[in-house]
Amino acid sequence: MQKLNLRWKPLLALLPLWFAASTSHAANDPLAPTARWSAYTAGRALTPPMGWSSWNAFGTDIDEAKILGSAQRIVDAGLAAKGYRYINIDDGWALQRRVSDGHMVIRPDRFPSSVTGNASTFRPFTDKIHAMGLKAGIYSDLGRNTCSQAYSGSETDLPKGSVLEREVGLYGHIDQDIALYFADWGFDFIKVDGCGLRAYGPASPKVRSGQYRALPPVLDLESVSRSDIPAVQAEFAQINAALKRNKPDGDFLLSLCIWGAADVRAWGKNVGNISRTSDDITPYWNRMLSNFDSAARRELYGHPGSWNDPDMLYIGKGDFDADHLVEARSHFSLWAMLNAPLMMGADLRTMPQELMEIVGNADVIAVNQDAAGNQATLAYDADDLQIMVKPLASGKKPLPSSTAELPRSRST
Ligand code: GLA
Repeated sequence: MQKLNLRWKPLLALLPLWFAASTSHAANDPLAPTARWSAYTAGRALTPPMGWSSWNAFGTDIDEAKILGSAQRIVDAGLAAKGYRYINIDDGWALQRRVSDGHMVIRPDRFPSSVTGNASTFRPFTDKIHAMGLKAGIYSDLGRNTCSQAYSGSETDLPKGSVLEREVGLYGHIDQDIALYFADWGFDFIKVDGCGLRAYGPASPKVRSGQYRALPPVLDLESVSRSDIPAVQAEFAQINAALKRNKPDGDFLLSLCIWGAADVRAWGKNVGNISRTSDDITPYWNRMLSNFDSAARRELYGHPGSWNDPDMLYIGKGDFDADHLVEARSHFSLWAMLNAPLMMGADLRTMPQELMEIVGNADVIAVNQDAAGNQATLAYDADDLQIMVKPLASGKKPLPSSTAELPRSRST
């Protein structure tokens, strides 16, 4: 897509289309559409998950007060009642892995409630989240080390200790860590990042300087053929099996974060509930649109149980702050039409009311959470105009007056 044209493209959030499939003529045709999808049946994602994540607001500079404060605002503002329920801790929570037994240790200064005697446990934290009627999410990586360890310029919030102690990712510890996070600590959601399988080759400066052990990359964002798809699939399959074992009631959600690499769109639905389609969103209009583009033509890969994930919402910052309400509404409407997870990414303790109303818009949420689970299709696509159509379960016909054209220029 031409990003320059898209910058001013009027974005049309268009509503439902009458959709009536006729199957009568197809009874004997083995290639006839069955109107059934094969999708992930484990986990809890019949509709796209909704909630909040610490990453866009805080990066690795997280602590218990920031996270619980945002969770409290979700409850107080009535957003929990509208479906926002996952409170996800992203990268930055881990202090180290104890070498004697491989047990993960939480940063005690940032999560004081995790220190109970000699133990390090998130159970008091997840108990608080659950007592608020919400669900708790945690973060890990497919490799030995995480994305912030690979890309952060500062050591302040990174794991501490020896090379082995700083190996906080799942690699070689899948069964142990998933049992700890779900059975012991009580989490309901895990985001599994992929930098550990992408950024720690022998040529990486942090590996060459001895900071981290080398792990030959099997994920290549530029090339499917340079990715080792079976190796990546095998790890996710093991994570998936461990989740089912440790959460036999099926109350879990697995978020795949390999940014569309390794042809994940074709197989992500076999192992997880949501799957990132692009690199990270930033609080800029053009970047939001490029993340939108990464999922906009993948409607056949999103359905109840497994959804495309163009990344978390950036409403509350930069081009989507309180001075840019049109842009914030556009971002929210587009994510709704894509059936994207609605994961807020702002410090909700200080989020202005106008923005709270955007993320709390019940009509837009209903489009996203519609039971039919049809991701919008680009029905018309020209240089300066796109029309998206999302067939709803009700089969409602669109009315001309329901077509909302957004301005061609931003309100800056
Ligand atoms: C990657 C992911 C982000 C975030 C960071 C954490 O970049 O794509 O969403 O989790 O890692 O370091």
